[in-house]
Amino acid sequence: MILFLGKAVDVDFKVKDLKLAEEGFKKIRWAEQYMPVLRLIREEFSESLPLKGIRISASLHVTKETAVLVRTLRAGGAEVLLVPSNPLSTQDDVAAALAQEGVKVFAWRGMSTQDYYWAIAQAINFKPHITMDDGADIVSTLHKLYLNSGGEEVEVVRESLDVNVAEVVNNAIGGTEETTTGVIRIRMMEKEKVLQYPVIAVNDSLTKYLFDNRYGTGQSTLDGIIRATNVLIAGKRVVVAGYGWCGRGIAMRARGLGAHVIITEVDPIKALEATYDGFRVMPMKEAAKIGDVFITATGNKNVIRGEHILLMKDGVILANAGHFNVEIDLEALRTLSKERRLVRTNVEEYVLKNGKRVYLLAEGRLVNLVAAEGHPSEVMDMSFSNQAMAVKFLVEKGVELAPRVYSLPRDIDNYIAKLKLKSLGVGIDELTEEQKEYLATWRLGT
Ligand code: ADE
Repeated sequence: MILFLGKAVDVDFKVKDLKLAEEGFKKIRWAEQYMPVLRLIREEFSESLPLKGIRISASLHVTKETAVLVRTLRAGGAEVLLVPSNPLSTQDDVAAALAQEGVKVFAWRGMSTQDYYWAIAQAINFKPHITMDDGADIVSTLHKLYLNSGGEEVEVVRESLDVNVAEVVNNAIGGTEETTTGVIRIRMMEKEKVLQYPVIAVNDSLTKYLFDNRYGTGQSTLDGIIRATNVLIAGKRVVVAGYGWCGRGIAMRARGLGAHVIITEVDPIKALEATYDGFRVMPMKEAAKIGDVFITATGNKNVIRGEHILLMKDGVILANAGHFNVEIDLEALRTLSKERRLVRTNVEEYVLKNGKRVYLLAEGRLVNLVAAEGHPSEVMDMSFSNQAMAVKFLVEKGVELAPRVYSLPRDIDNYIAKLKLKSLGVGIDELTEEQKEYLATWRLGT
């Protein structure tokens, strides 16, 4: 029994259309083929059942890769409830396939804010031993409820709750967090000493951020922009806001397609790195005048503001690759516009009062997940292997851990890297005994 907008409803899932399941199964099969490390972990899990009896509430993008992770967790003996981590990123066919397999999934593409937080309430009602987040929505909502703070969205959750929040918090072993934005939030909770259980920052793993954030975001962001617009990237001035791992990946791939890439940054070290990587670096107010395509990947809000939009050329394309839809000031864009209409799937044309047109992709939400399929399965293989290992780690060690943010031990990272290399047929060298000795002493000279 669950509560839907305050009414009791007897369903164990809510998806767009169960008839889409067949297509979803095909997609999941396709993803599985490119996720060999997670397949191996699944095999191992299904023998040793390390997650037996563990309830996991996950808020992740509901994609074919997430489905492979969910299957892995269930193979390990866990019961999994899945809700989205973005209202627009759900692949409805995959959600239908998961529901048909018996997963408690509450997700469909185009959820309203109210639907979205109703789904988060279901994640809490499940009384999870482990919360798994991509963007910290379960963990932060649960803590807001526990601390009696929060805004309108927390009220939506409260109305749909049928559990005692303190009991849920006290029974939780721990949580995992997938993404940079979520980790920043949870570290703030730790700093304010309000975090109630340990959280593994999966994003800290080298086999996560060096690959997912860089190669995954790099390729899928360009993929999303191209699927949405079909514009030629060659010769365009592509402005990338933020030169973190995601920004680097995007800049690298845009350059590979022949764009003139401009970076905007607030961090002097990153700006210097971008300069020495051969990119032009300038403030947004200068880039705004010359860019053709703007991509935000900063994790911060209002990076593209009204003052920038007013300087832009006619026909510019705006896309966001950051977790939340806050990087482009949408309120300012609306205020500056006299008309707006959908001109293609995922492309909205804003006609400004000054007569210029601005094309906003994917409503300013994650363009790679809304207009394309998210990161390719090969990189999610490593990210989600980290998630699976993080859950196992919490089950084994969680009760001993203080309520803080932890990285996974380096040997788990190395284990995942080795399995990935093996799957790719790539061999590496080993240190000789002599080399090990050399590294272990400071006495030897030239
Ligand atoms: N985040 C980025 N890409 C993703 C994908 N393909 N599946 C789940 N989460 C993602």
